[in-house]
Amino acid sequence: MFEEAQLYSPVSTGEGGEVTVHLADDHPGANDPAYRARRNEIAAAALAWQPGTPPPRIDYTDVENDVWRTVCRELAPKHERYAVGEFVEAVERVGLPRERVPQLDEVTVHVEPISGWRYVPAAGLVPLRQFYGSLESRTFHSTQYLRHPDVPLYTPEPDAIHEVIGHGHLLATPTFGELHRMAGEATNRLRDDDNVAFLSRVFWFSLEFGVVEEDGELKAYGAGILSSYGEIEEFRRMEHRPLDVAEMGTADYDITHYQPVLYRAESVEEVVEVVGGFFVTCTDESIAAMRRGAKAVA
Ligand SMILES: [Fe+2]
Repeated sequence: MFEEAQLYSPVSTGEGGEVTVHLADDHPGANDPAYRARRNEIAAAALAWQPGTPPPRIDYTDVENDVWRTVCRELAPKHERYAVGEFVEAVERVGLPRERVPQLDEVTVHVEPISGWRYVPAAGLVPLRQFYGSLESRTFHSTQYLRHPDVPLYTPEPDAIHEVIGHGHLLATPTFGELHRMAGEATNRLRDDDNVAFLSRVFWFSLEFGVVEEDGELKAYGAGILSSYGEIEEFRRMEHRPLDVAEMGTADYDITHYQPVLYRAESVEEVVEVVGGFFVTCTDESIAAMRRGAKAVA
């Protein structure tokens, strides 16, 4: 089942104003009081943020900077091998620090001159319509916490590493940055929330977990794969299906483990044609028809 809350740990504010991030029992940080306190602190900073002001600056600890450094070190050779060419070029061009976690306003300073994207903070889950809708104005809602240091290779939750290393570099590419923006434009055209959920699944199976044939090799262009140094070694072994928007928009997925089914394009041009074509042309009517079709098959 698709559950938005599955992606992010819920955040609540108590009567006294205290902010709590509710980690699931099986979360790697569930039994680590220091990690939990840190998550609460970072979420509180994002909740206190006012649009139009700079994102909160987080004073990252040595442990957090270590996690960032480890992931950057592990991912660098894997990006060379497994990432789509535009992404590899963007990593060089954006030039983010690899020794410490960058602040969100630093990410904006690096990415905005290239492609116009800005980063704003998110405490956790941003409602689908707001998250995707803001992509139209090249605004990216980003969490600022780091995954638990015991499991740096993968996170079930989108953390700063996923948002910045995965999406940030994609947003600096001509093709995939534009596809993000087109997803935003499409979202703002849709009235029915179920259709926005359909679009979010298409986004999931493309800009989060998409793979593409390039120069005779299978490469990743999805931010979820490109930010996980465990999963990036596995995607070539998964089940690959041809791009099919109706199927992608109605498929279920589980974020708690590596994605077993991936949608593969034969070229970057095909991603633009099929996924971009969907974002450009989709309407409430066209998506409703695809959802009805999927139900009829099921
Ligand atoms: Fe993501």
